[in-house]
Formats: sequence, C-alpha cells, structure tokens
Amino acid sequence: MAMQTVKLSSGQNMPVVGLGTWQAQPEETEAIIKIALDSGYRHFDTAFNYNNEESIGKSIKKWLSEGGKREDLFITTKLPNFGNRPSDVEKFLNLSLQRLGLNYVDLYLIHMPFSFIQDKNSFTPAINEDGSFMLDLESQPVAVWKEMEKQVKAGRAKSIGLSNFNISQIQNILNNSEIKPSNVQVELHAFMQQKPLRDFCKLNNISVTAYSPIGSPGTKAHFQAKYNYSVETFPDLLGHPVLNQIASARNKTPAQVLLRHAVQGGVIVIPKSTNPERIKSNIQIFDFKLTDEEMDKLNALDQDKNMRIFDFLFFKGVENHPNYPFKDELH
Ligand SMILES: NC(=O)c1ccc[n+]([C@@H]2O[C@H](COP(=O)([O-])OP(=O)(O)OC[C@H]3O[C@@H](n4cnc5c(N)ncnc54)[C@H](OP(=O)(O)O)[C@@H]3O)[C@@H](O)[C@H]2O)c1
Repeated sequence: MAMQTVKLSSGQNMPVVGLGTWQAQPEETEAIIKIALDSGYRHFDTAFNYNNEESIGKSIKKWLSEGGKREDLFITTKLPNFGNRPSDVEKFLNLSLQRLGLNYVDLYLIHMPFSFIQDKNSFTPAINEDGSFMLDLESQPVAVWKEMEKQVKAGRAKSIGLSNFNISQIQNILNNSEIKPSNVQVELHAFMQQKPLRDFCKLNNISVTAYSPIGSPGTKAHFQAKYNYSVETFPDLLGHPVLNQIASARNKTPAQVLLRHAVQGGVIVIPKSTNPERIKSNIQIFDFKLTDEEMDKLNALDQDKNMRIFDFLFFKGVENHPNYPFKDELH
C-alpha cells in the first residue's frame, strides 16, 4: 500500500514513516539502508552525532546510481548540541552534507535547545573535571534560527525545524522568525502522547515527528553503558497487556499497532531497527485501520510527562542550562 505523506509548510511532502538510525553502527548501516530502501522506506532520520551519515550516504549513492530519484527521498539530519551557535550552523550542515554525499537535506533540525562547548579535539561536548558537561551559556536559539533560515535560502536545506524544544521555546522561534519551523521532533509514544504540544503545533501548521515511537527498548542499557546513568523506571511499552491484546486480536505485532496508533493520530513516526525482519514489518501499517474503540484504549495509556525517557539528565549538569526544556519536571 502506498506510503502516506504530510504536506509541510515549506511545501515539501514528508513520508509519515521513516527509519530511525540512532545507535545504528556505521559498519552495519550501509546494508541496513539498502534493506530499508528495498522495503519501501524513503524517509531516513539521522544526526551529525549518530556517526552514521557517511554509511547512509554510501547506500543512497548506490541506490541513485541504480535509477533511484533524489526527489523521492526525504533525509533529515540535525545540528549537534555542541554546534548550537550561529557561527557553527553552516559549518555543521556542510559537514553533514559532505558525509551524506548530498547537496541538500530535506529537513535540518536544531537537535536540542541547550548547548555545550565543543571538545577541543573531537566532535563531542567538552566535559568538566567533575564529569559534568561544559555548558555554553551564550547560546541564543533565535540567533541560531536566523542561520537555519539562511541554509534554506542557500538551498542546503529544503525545510528546517526543531527537536526537543518545549512549547514556549517553539513559540519564541515562531515570534522571531521569517521562515517558520516545518517540523518538531519530540519523544512521543502511547505512554507519552504529547497532546498539548500536538495541539499547539496543529494550530501553528507545524508537523510533529515521534521519536522513540515504540518506547526505545534497549536504551536503558545504552544509557547505563555510555553514560553510567541508570533509569529506575524505564517504561515497558511493548509489553503492555492492552497493546498486546489489540495486536494479537488483529494478528499484528505490538510495534505495528503502536506505529499505526501514532500515524492515525496525525503524527510522523521514525522507528529504529537494524533487524531486517523488524525493518520490513515496521512499515507494514497501511493495510489496517484501528477502530475508534481501539484508538480510545491506546489513548488511555497516556501518562504524559511521567513517562518521559529522554529527560537528558544523562548529560550531567544539563539541567543548569537556561534552555534546558524540562525544568518544570525537575523534583
Ligand atoms: N531528536 C532526538 O533527540 C532523538 C532522540 C531519540 C531518538 N531519535 C530518533 O528517533 C529514532 C527512533 O527512536 P529510538 O531509536 O529511541 O526508539 P524506537 O524506535 O522506539 O525503538 C528502537 C528499539 O526498538 C527495537 N525494535 C524495533 N522494531 C521493533 C519491533 N518491531 N519489535 C520489537 N522491538 C523493535 C530496536 O531494536 P532492533 O534494532 O534490534 O530491531 C531498538 O532497540 C532514533 O533512531 C532516532 O533516529 C531522535
């Protein structure tokens, strides 16, 4: 069944299912992207700091050389949190384009509203002696946005948007911009449905992309391994009995039901998988429709902010940044 798209305020069509690639290792990504292209994916979500843009680029180059059309693809990448200053926007977008082997991206997002100083020797945030992240307190999102607008005018990005910004931070950009954000990418799944933010975005003609749409299983272990950060109550969304009951009654996987639930609610989804079978099945969500009753049952799983996985506190000290977006949730 044909992929649905959403018309962005920039005029572009964004496929409602894309492949997430966070934690996809560079050495496996090239083959994964080919499997995804063969399975019907045309939308790919990456970021400068996922370190896999080059592998994605290689796969795309091959696909294009075999007759694929660039205009059929939708490629999103993101400005890293250590490049959140006006003088760095063009530099990092050019680096991403170089790695991807493209002359434009379809969507360029400011990855996070807060910013860190860059490490002197690498593309990572600088770390203080006590292990905390070195905050860049000078960073001004509106000034960064002005540079994002220039990237559209220069043809390097077709659309621009924001990720992990809260409602008042998005409003601030809306109030001070010439080109409005076309898309906002936030954590969104059945346990955290982001109703206020979705209503706000709808009113302002901003599309919403759900990251971690199936609850990011596996990320608890990643937080522990990479940041030595433990989350005590990591939600087990895929194991929820209501979801499993709907899935088995329909002979669908729990992931397909979650993705269908979000898409049917008007949200774009970017599930990540590096498993060929799961890559294929996660896009097979256009051959069924959830009933109003099933939608109600899934809507009722919402616990909003209580179920946030990505509070970014694994970046030690980030809550002290003036642009930390979830201050009202800190205890
Ligand atoms: N803007 C941001 O700050 C931000 C933050 C987080 C994520 N993202 C983006 O959003 C994408 C998705 O989020 P996410 O990776 O956190 O979480 P997710 O897509 O909700 O979950 C990915 C996890 O689920 C597993 N999985 C995939 N399909 C499955 C299925 N059908 N059944 C059971 N398990 C399945 C994957 O393992 P396998 O690979 O083994 O299948 C992986 O461990 C990311 O890859 C990234 O592109 C953006």
